[in-house]
Amino acid sequence: MARTKIAMIGAGMIGGNLAHWAGMKQLGDVVLFDIAEGTAKGKALDLFEGSPVDGWDARITGTSDWKDCAGADVCIVTAGVPRKPGMSRDDLLDTNVKIIKDVATNIKEHCPNAFVIVISNPLDSMVYAMKEITGFPKERVVGMAGVLDTARYRSFVAMELDVSVKDVQAIVLGGHGDTMVPLRSYCSVGGIPVNELISAERLDAIESRVRKAGGEIVGLLGNGSAFYSPAASAIAMAEAYILDQGRILPSACLCEGEYGIDGYYIGVPAKISAKGVEKVIEVKLTDDQKAELANSLEAVKKVVEETKTRLG
Ligand code: APR
Repeated sequence: MARTKIAMIGAGMIGGNLAHWAGMKQLGDVVLFDIAEGTAKGKALDLFEGSPVDGWDARITGTSDWKDCAGADVCIVTAGVPRKPGMSRDDLLDTNVKIIKDVATNIKEHCPNAFVIVISNPLDSMVYAMKEITGFPKERVVGMAGVLDTARYRSFVAMELDVSVKDVQAIVLGGHGDTMVPLRSYCSVGGIPVNELISAERLDAIESRVRKAGGEIVGLLGNGSAFYSPAASAIAMAEAYILDQGRILPSACLCEGEYGIDGYYIGVPAKISAKGVEKVIEVKLTDDQKAELANSLEAVKKVVEETKTRLG
């Protein structure tokens, strides 16, 4: 049986880490694609030369020829520019929408059966554009944001309590921007509701940090945005698909009525299995959470409308 073929579209900071994680987890063979041919080929060779050390089997190749991505089972898209300090994700729209147009057209042609995970920002709009251009079923086009936003929430709660990150569960809904909605009522530590362990004031501060966590890293790095945690998050989604795990992962999914949202991609809990996005899961929200989600949807809609005009 042939190994799963995973195409990483974009071999930059996130792309290189995606290839590394996918290789180490032996999820399949990896093609690293980038318009910068040397970057793709150099990183692929470097990663493959590292594989004998830990002894993992995955062929990793680099290319700038779409034909080498042909028939990929999974495509993870990071092509695009990252933020610089002071920029919002939405400031990337002009540049990244052109890149996504090119990438989506090629995925449609060369990888017609792929499960596509988009990471490029502004995420909720870029995944919308990917769906529009490929015309793939909504089960096969998803955005990575919620796993990362949730992981940030889980990390900060674990730091606060000095406990294992493994025991912290959480859900973050909404757009991948400052309006995202961390759901305190669904956050728990070893099964204990978080508000029994951390004061409301401290939780306010933690949730505020979650909303701005991407910007915190952009500010510290000074020349790019987060790459380790986004790569780990997308690999969890790819793994859930490839290994048919049926994991419940917050993901940017096309909502068609769920949460009263119709025709937009936004972060919601989803079941990811070999069927792709098998199901969006609706959880009960308080009135405040509903209002926050509506506010986040408005922010997403604004950028999607701008995206639509650029898609023509
Ligand atoms: N096709 C393929 N690759 C492209 C294209 C294209 N049309 N245009 C640009 N690229 C490549 C660049 O050459 C670069 O190597 O995309 C890569 C992006 O890598 P980085 O600049 O290192 O950015 P990264 O940190 O990986 O982030 C990528 O993910 O989280 C988001 O906001 C982030 O939009 C950004 C994206």
